[in-house]
Amino acid sequence: MKKYLSHSVIETEKLAEEFSRDIKEGDIICLSGDLGAGKTHFVRGFVKGFGLPADVVSSPTFAIINEYDGEVPIYHFDCYRLEHVSEALEIGSEEYFYGNGVSIIEWPEKIREILPDYTIDIRILVTGKEEREIIFSF
Ligand SMILES: Nc1ncnc2c1ncn2[C@@H]1O[C@H](COP(=O)(O)OP(=O)(O)OP(=O)(O)O)[C@@H](O)[C@H]1O
Ligand SMILES: [Mg+2]
Repeated sequence: MKKYLSHSVIETEKLAEEFSRDIKEGDIICLSGDLGAGKTHFVRGFVKGFGLPADVVSSPTFAIINEYDGEVPIYHFDCYRLEHVSEALEIGSEEYFYGNGVSIIEWPEKIREILPDYTIDIRILVTGKEEREIIFSF
């Protein structure tokens, strides 16, 4: 387990970009944390590590998944609005998980039962107005 303190959005994005260097095709990253913790900002930094600008990342209002065409495909899930895990199955989530891309998932607890057991788990805790504790499970 590794813990970092971030003091700004920029620092969170930098941490995520550095973290992305250890990620390879087929990896599944679960991002937990309250509303407004910084999960989407983490994804913005993460995609930079795959050669994409941060602003390709959006918080989908209706879509559960956004796909970004980086050096490897990046599947960005936001499961907040899911009411039942069956909705994730209907959009073919499992094909993403077991495909060639990298999956990064906000609100993974909503779909935990269909996730494989080898996910990489990251938790973001709000510890101050601009301070965040970012905890990596490995
Ligand atoms: N150190 C920090 N790292 C990340 N975000 C920060 C930090 N300090 C302040 N913030 C603010 O916290 C908010 C994080 O928003 P973001 O959309 O990334 O959260 P989220 O975890 O994805 O929320 P949601 O669950 O609603 O999707 C932004 O308003 C951002 O400016
Ligand atoms: Mg978000």
